[in-house]
Formats: sequence, structure tokens, C-alpha cells
Amino acid sequence: MLKIGDIVMKNPVVLAPMAGVCNSAFRLTVKEFGAGLVCAEMVSDKGILFKNEKTMNMLYIDEREKPLSLQIFGGEKETLVEAARFVDKNTNADIIDINMGCPVPKITKCDAGARWLLDPDKIYEMVSAVVDAVEKPVTVKMRIGWDEEHIFAVKNARAVERAGGKAVAVHGRTRVQMYEGKANWDIIREVKQSVNIPVIGNGDVETPQDAKRMLEETGVDGVMIGRAALGNPWMIYRTVKYLETGELMGEPSVREKMDVCILHLDRLIALKNEHVAVREMRKHAAWYLKGVKGNAKVRNAINECNTREDLVMLLNGLAAEVEEKEIQAIVG
Ligand SMILES: Cc1cc2nc3c(=O)[nH]c(=O)nc-3n(C[C@H](O)[C@H](O)[C@H](O)COP(=O)(O)O)c2cc1C
Repeated sequence: MLKIGDIVMKNPVVLAPMAGVCNSAFRLTVKEFGAGLVCAEMVSDKGILFKNEKTMNMLYIDEREKPLSLQIFGGEKETLVEAARFVDKNTNADIIDINMGCPVPKITKCDAGARWLLDPDKIYEMVSAVVDAVEKPVTVKMRIGWDEEHIFAVKNARAVERAGGKAVAVHGRTRVQMYEGKANWDIIREVKQSVNIPVIGNGDVETPQDAKRMLEETGVDGVMIGRAALGNPWMIYRTVKYLETGELMGEPSVREKMDVCILHLDRLIALKNEHVAVREMRKHAAWYLKGVKGNAKVRNAINECNTREDLVMLLNGLAAEVEEKEIQAIVG
């Protein structure tokens, strides 16, 4: 059972925080596919403190998404604590997560994200300051280390626990690896064996079977899924079902994929506006189309779309074309 503070998740399947992806539109859709916990995209502490309009919009949470974890990042204690306080008092997030894994230079050069992985004392100091300032449970998402020579995952997770953190999510890669190479699940297991707070394992869970294997091989309390859920909320549903019953559900039809893509689009339009949503949806649509035969032409056309009407026409057109081919194949 995955329990963080007093919050009990209905299953151990967690949607990973993904910048530019995990806004309310996508999270709600994934939640409806059964995720035990959804994580929001990372939000800058300074953006919160300056009440930057875009940042404030990122704090919107639909009640139906709960339980939800909202992730903040920053490099200085004062601003991180203030941002956490704001999230604690002014949002309906259930959990405040601190980003300690983001590898991109824009973030690490401000002493934020993965930079902390080199310094367990700093982790202790930052996490305890946040824990002391808020009521919601505080968690941390980290990578296993900075590089092969500096893998401090166990020390870092212990620092989180000592500081009062209520769970830790571990992505089994170093900062230097970015998204290359294989995630190291052995280190995730070591972390699990070294702390008493819940551990969520992350990295390279591509199939429901991978999720089961991660839970069994590492003993983690939860399994976090990122890239495999892009354009594919069925991955969440299929994983939940597989873990619960051992049954491996089939892949969705193209029609189902396009219907959910349109639902996602409409939610994004409601959240942002048509112009912004359609442009943002281009990348999602390409992910929904992954694996659909003959999608290259439609993908190119989607990249030129500026209106809901055009995008929906292309998606429905593709579904109809595939259905027509299937009927032809049966009829002969
Ligand atoms: C597009 C994208 C955006 C991401 N943004 C965040 C983020 O905001 N915060 C974070 O902690 N991790 C972020 N990550 C890392 C993921 O949460 C996850 O740790 C990583 O993708 C490994 O999991 P996976 O193999 O299941 O994809 C991001 C990953 C991707 C692909």
C-alpha cells in the first residue's frame, strides 16, 4: 500500500511529474485511467513568489485529480520555503514535492534540481526548512546521483527521512546520464532497504510487466511512470489492472486513441485557450499517434494546425481511414 503522510493511494501506480506535459488537462485524463497518484509538472519557487501569471495558472488543480502531488524547485532556502508556504495555504494539492532531479543546466546552475545530489547536508537543511513551514506532507524526487563517481542516493534519501520528508521518489539515473542508458534499479532497491519512509521507484517502466518487476525486484512502495504514459494513458490503466489481476489488457483501437486525444485537447483548451492549446497539443497528438500505421502524413499536417476544428478533423479522419482499411481486410 502506498501511503504518504495520512494520504492513502488506491494503488501504487504514480504518474511522473513532466514539465510541459503534466498540467491539469493531462493529469485528469490519466487519473480517469486509474492512477493512484498524479504529479504536477515542476513549478519555479521564484515564479510563485513573483506571482508570475503563467506560474499561477500552473497551480490550478481540479478536485477530481486528487490525490495530487505538486512539485516545486529552487536553489535558495528562503524562496523555496516561501513558495512551499504559498502552495500549502493556497492550493488544493495533497503533497508538496521538491525537485532534486532536474538535470538541465538552466536549473542546476541556479543550485536547484539535481545539483543538490552532491550535498546530503544541503538536502537535510532544505527539506527540514520546508517541512517546518508547511502542513502538507513533503516529499522529494531525486536521481540516484550526479555521475557514476557520485552516487549518494542512500545518504540523500536518509537525509530526506531525517529532515521529516514523508516519501522519496528515485529515478534510477545520474544527472550526467540525462535520459540515456539504463535506469539502475539496484540502487533503488538499496534506497528502499535503507529508509523507513515509502520509496517510489522510477525509470524505464515501459510496460505493465516492467512495473510488476520493479515492485518485486526492488521492494518499492510505488512505481512511477513517465514517458510510457505520453499519449498513452492506457499504460496506466493496463498497469493498474495487471498489478491487481494479472490480466494484460489489449492495446486501444485507433478510434479510442483519437477520442481520448480529442478529450485531452478540449481540456487543454478549457485550461489555456484554443490557440495555445492547439499548438501545445501538436506534440501530444504525435505521441497519441505513435504506433498507428501510416501516421507520418497526418503528423506533418498536425504540425501546421492552428484550430481545434482542423486538428479534430485530422484525428477523426485518421481513425476513419484505419477503420475503413480494417473493414476492407475483413470483407476482402
Ligand atoms: C518531458 C519530460 C519532462 C519532465 N519534467 C520533469 C519535472 O518537471 N520534474 C521531475 O521531477 N522530473 C521530470 N521529468 C523526469 C520524469 O519525471 C522521470 O523521472 C523520467 O522521465 C524517468 O521516468 P520514465 O523512464 O518512466 O520516463 C521529466 C521527463 C520528461 C520526459
